[in-house]
Amino acid sequence: MTTPDVRRHDDADVLVGDVASALLDRLETAQARGEVPQIGLTGGSIAEQLHRELARRAADSSVDWSRVVFWWGDERFVPRDSPDRNALQAREALLDHVGVDEANVHEVPASDEVATAEESAEAYSAKMRSEGAGFFEVLMLGIGPDGHCASLFPGHPALDARDAIAVAVHDSPKPPPDRVTLTFEAMDRCRAVWFIASGDGKADAVARALAPEGTIAETPARGVSGDETVWWLDDAAASRLPS
Ligand code: 6PG
Repeated sequence: MTTPDVRRHDDADVLVGDVASALLDRLETAQARGEVPQIGLTGGSIAEQLHRELARRAADSSVDWSRVVFWWGDERFVPRDSPDRNALQAREALLDHVGVDEANVHEVPASDEVATAEESAEAYSAKMRSEGAGFFEVLMLGIGPDGHCASLFPGHPALDARDAIAVAVHDSPKPPPDRVTLTFEAMDRCRAVWFIASGDGKADAVARALAPEGTIAETPARGVSGDETVWWLDDAAASRLPS
């Protein structure tokens, strides 16, 4: 596990601005190397704020959004046009405002497209095997107050998935109950994992995730690391970390 790089910010606005700036720089640099960077987006409120900030800054960056490949770390198993869909939220906040190439946007199949979350996970896994680069340039993750990331929740069977890219999750403690999530194995295949968390409601989970001791079963965010792992935090979310 790589040593996490913890970056603290005064508040959510400063946090989101810095993450957006760093992500745009990283995408520009990857494209300057002739690469087509693959990024994993996440759902949740701070991710939404980030997506909107990226859209605001897009015009001032040299990122060619048609040469960025989008995946999701997890998705809710609901109809494609449901406001609960992480992909729909990301489209409304970012993708619809920049020139993406739809061939490079890989949504998790929705509940009005396949019959079960298991089928969705299998189809998404097959798509990632065939279209994925084998790693993410950046995988974005939030963290829940219980220490979950993506849809890997404390004590859930998905934590133990092996030889699988994506799996179905049922009885999620965070509604909606049925989801599809990347596994730890899939999420670890990345040059960078970027956790982003804001607010004192996340302080305990962040502290547990970064503590020297603890279990992945209790705090799933402990289970993900990339070649580099960055925790992008505002001071409130970082408030229970050793100073
Ligand atoms: C989801 C998200 C989930 C989210 C965290 C943080 O589908 O619900 O992927 O993992 O990132 O729960 O969400 P908030 O930023 O809204 O607290």
